Amino acid sequence: MKLAQRMDQFKGYLGTEMNVRLTKMKEEGKDVINLGLGDPDVTPPQHLLDALKEAVCEPHHHHYPSFYSIRPLRTAIADWYQRRFGVKLDPDTEVIPLLGASEGLFHIHLCLLDVGDVALVPDPSYPSYEAGVKLAGGQIEWVPLLRKNGFLPDLDSIPADVARKARMIWVNYPNNPTGAVATPEFFRRLIDWAKTYDVVVVSDTPYSEICLDGYCAPSFLEFEGAKEVGVELHSLSKSYNCCGWRAGMLVGNREVVAGMAKIKSHADRGMYYPMQVAVTKALNGPVDFMEERNQAFQERRDVVVKGLRKVGLEVDIPKATFYVWSTVPKGYTSSDFCFKVLDAANVWMIPGSMYGRHGEGYLRIALTHPVDRLAEAMERLKKFMS
Ligand SMILES: Cc1ncc(COP(=O)(O)O)c(C=O)c1O
Repeated sequence: MKLAQRMDQFKGYLGTEMNVRLTKMKEEGKDVINLGLGDPDVTPPQHLLDALKEAVCEPHHHHYPSFYSIRPLRTAIADWYQRRFGVKLDPDTEVIPLLGASEGLFHIHLCLLDVGDVALVPDPSYPSYEAGVKLAGGQIEWVPLLRKNGFLPDLDSIPADVARKARMIWVNYPNNPTGAVATPEFFRRLIDWAKTYDVVVVSDTPYSEICLDGYCAPSFLEFEGAKEVGVELHSLSKSYNCCGWRAGMLVGNREVVAGMAKIKSHADRGMYYPMQVAVTKALNGPVDFMEERNQAFQERRDVVVKGLRKVGLEVDIPKATFYVWSTVPKGYTSSDFCFKVLDAANVWMIPGSMYGRHGEGYLRIALTHPVDRLAEAMERLKKFMS
């Protein structure tokens, strides 16, 4: 069987491949601590579970959904953005639900890129941006995220001829994998830059509600002129503790939203109707559970940062996300180190190089287990290092 050539141009999602290996290790009786996949041990609040259960049991909720979603859901998304960020959105033209942010962030390349068009993609970054650009036939120009710049893109270092050719730029704050956050100045400068070069900004912000130490993440759309140049993706996966629900949203520039609605009318035909009802309830409902959850992430982060520093690794304290981004010891590549720790100590951390060339020299730890389990992982790491 001969598949299309484009299938050789991108890799399958890293988590899928590693999960097969980790599951095999567990079947062999190994006590593996998986600090890889960003799917924490938290559960959706009870009112969300009740809403979904009730909606599933309605016999007339099982037809094809409208691909453009029920109006109460679009209104709930717009109201949530207004309450949370002070951003005003028209529910009819500036909002579309997604089957998780992943679905939207993959399809959006088909909406914005013609074959050969340039997309600016951060390095390191979430691997699906690269795969999406390649599947759409686009060309990637990498934008390094360096520690000395707080893991923000240095827009001034993008050559003018590259910026002029670019059709879109990805930004993702709070950031996976580095845990970095963006300043208001960065977003203002980004909007000016995007206007100058006529580049669409795509802001991916699934971690906006995972904020630590009293930090409150902004939305890119809060800043003047943002809607003229871009869109934002958000997701309930991390915010509402329901990674498996596959529920998210795309909001902002109405031309991009309309383009995505056209693609989705063929690609997925819309979110399962009971899910639309439950997501509406979630977005209109209480968010007090987030504080306790984020407090737990904060405690976990402190245990991990302390453990890593104790063995001499360099790590900045993340103000958001449930990721810790650390250097690897001198003399190892990211990949060597992480696979050696996996084999010797049965702790899996993701090599930074899996997120791009500039991720080399780093590793990412996901705070997806309780404090005692993370402490155990740090203890195993200490033993390995000594
Ligand atoms: C940066 C980033 N964007 C998007 C996603 C996908 O989120 P969702 O579960 O909504 O598809 C993730 C998931 O880990 C992520 O880290």
